[in-house]
Amino acid sequence: MCRPAVVLAVLAACACSLPVPALGSVHLNYRPVIGVLAQENLEGDPHAQGSSYIAASYVKYLESAGARVVPIRINGTEEDYTKIFYAINGLLLPGGDVDLQKSQFSRMAKIFYELAIKANDAGDYFPIWGTCQGFQQLTVLTSNKNLLTLTNTKAVALPLVFSQGAQNTRMFKSFPKDLLLSLSEENITSNFHSWSLSVQNYTRNAKLKRFYKVLTTNTDGRKEFISTMEAYRYPFYAVQWHPEKSPFEWIDKPGMVHSVSAIRASFYTASFFVSEAMKNQHRFPTPQEEEKALIYNYMPVFKGLDSIFMQNYYFD
Ligand SMILES: *[C@@H]1O[C@H](CO)[C@@H](O)[C@H](O)[C@H]1NC(C)=O
Ligand SMILES: *[C@@H]1O[C@H](CO)[C@@H](O)[C@H](O)[C@H]1NC(C)=O
Ligand SMILES: *[C@@H]1O[C@H](CO)[C@@H](O)[C@H](O)[C@H]1NC(C)=O
Repeated sequence: MCRPAVVLAVLAACACSLPVPALGSVHLNYRPVIGVLAQENLEGDPHAQGSSYIAASYVKYLESAGARVVPIRINGTEEDYTKIFYAINGLLLPGGDVDLQKSQFSRMAKIFYELAIKANDAGDYFPIWGTCQGFQQLTVLTSNKNLLTLTNTKAVALPLVFSQGAQNTRMFKSFPKDLLLSLSEENITSNFHSWSLSVQNYTRNAKLKRFYKVLTTNTDGRKEFISTMEAYRYPFYAVQWHPEKSPFEWIDKPGMVHSVSAIRASFYTASFFVSEAMKNQHRFPTPQEEEKALIYNYMPVFKGLDSIFMQNYYFD
C-alpha cells in the first residue's frame, strides 16, 4: 500500500465524521455483494410460493450499478445472519408491507442494523440503504419507536425539496448538477406509501435528530415529511421514494414515471450505494459458499405488468 493514499484516507476520515475506515479498506472492492432482505408474502398474492419474497426490481437496481445480490431469507437464526453479515458488503432494506416491529423482516433488520453499528464503530465500513418501508424500518430502529404518521402519498410523483446544503452531502455530491435540478423541478420521485416520518416528529425525537441529516422533504399538502436522509456518523441512507421503480416496474398508474431524468436519478442512487459497498472488504469464506448464496440460484416469477411488483423471487 502506498503511503500517500493512507495519509489521504486518514485526512478524509477526519474531515467528515464518518468512522475511520480500516487502513486495509482503502482499496475499493470491485466485486461487491449486497444483501437484500426477504419479507413475509403480501396477503392474497395469487403467485406466492413459499412464505417470503423479494421484488426483482431491487435486485436489478443493484445489479445495474455493478453489484451482485444475496437474498437474505426469513426465519434464520441470529448466528446465520451474523455469518451472512461478515460475507456481504452492504445491505438493502426494500419496500413492502409488513409490521415494522413484529415481522420477521423487522427482526432481521434489527439484527443487521446492530451488527452494522458495531462494525462501523470498529472501523469496518458497512453501508445500509432503506427504500420506502426500508426507510420507515430504519426510523423505527434508530428511535426504538414507531413515529410514523398517515399521509396521502399512495401513488404520486413529486419533486424533491432539497434542504440547505443537501447538494454537498455524501449522497448527492456525486450527482450531476442538471440531474439535481430535474429532481428539484420535475415530478420524478415515485411515492407509494401510506406512512411517513413527519418533519415534526423527526424534530421532536432527539435520537432521530442526532442520527440523521435531512436531505429532502415533501408534503402531501397537509403534512411535511422527510423523503431522503443520511446518517451523520454511519453510511446509512434512506429514501421514502422508489428509485428502483422507474426503470424496472411497469404497472400503469399515477406516480409511475419512466422519463429519462427519472431513470438517471434511479441509476445515480444505485451507483452511489454500490460505491459505498465497494469500501467494504467482507467476503464469503470460500468461492463455493459465495456461489451458493447468490440470487442467480433462484428464478423470479412474472406476476403480470399490472402487479405492483412485476416479478418476485419467492422463498420457503
Ligand atoms: C417463520 O416463522 C413464523 C413465525 O415467526 C412462522 O409463522 C412461519 O411459518 C415460519 N416460516 C417458515 C418458512 O419457517
Ligand atoms: C407522531 O408520532 C405519533 C406516534 O408516536 C403519531 O401518532 C403521530 O401521528 C405523529 N405525528 C406527526 C405529526 O407525525
Ligand atoms: C407534482 O408535484 C406537486 C408538488 O410539488 C404536486 O402537488 C402534484 O400533484 C404533482 N403532480 C403530479 C401529476 O403528480
